[in-house]
Amino acid sequence: MTLDDLFLLTLKDIYFAERQILAALPKMAKAAQSDQLKQAFIAHREETEGQVERLQAVFEALGKRAQGTSCEGIKGIIEECEELLDGVKESSPVRDAGLIACGQAVEHYEIARYGALIAWSTAAGKGDVVALLQSNLDQEKKADTLLTRLSNSINSVAATAA
Ligand SMILES: [Fe+2]
Ligand SMILES: [Fe+2]
Repeated sequence: MTLDDLFLLTLKDIYFAERQILAALPKMAKAAQSDQLKQAFIAHREETEGQVERLQAVFEALGKRAQGTSCEGIKGIIEECEELLDGVKESSPVRDAGLIACGQAVEHYEIARYGALIAWSTAAGKGDVVALLQSNLDQEKKADTLLTRLSNSINSVAATAA
């Protein structure tokens, strides 16, 4: 297996993952109590649509068909989030604290994947591909930072909730 093969497999993995995230974000927005958190999930869903398009452009640049491959990692993260939130009362501020932790687990997964893809395409001298992937990575990092910022106030409220 070459580095190009490894790249393509990982690209298929994140392509699948982004589409799973596209489906999960509206549910997370619906579950959020805080308006700011709700808006953050809705806005990131819109960004994710653009990310899927950029990934399609990466496949195209490589002369490959855009195709996902089942990503057990993201499925596991999303499943665990659902399990975690299952036991939390709908009106509880603890729910938002849990949603932020889940959202950040997703962002960190994406950041790890894009980090590797960017390193590999940089090494291979594929500047056009690097630029597309870097745009996605920048958005994931921004989303992660926003969740950290929102967690400051949300966690303090959750800490005193019964
Ligand atoms: Fe994403
Ligand atoms: Fe993301």
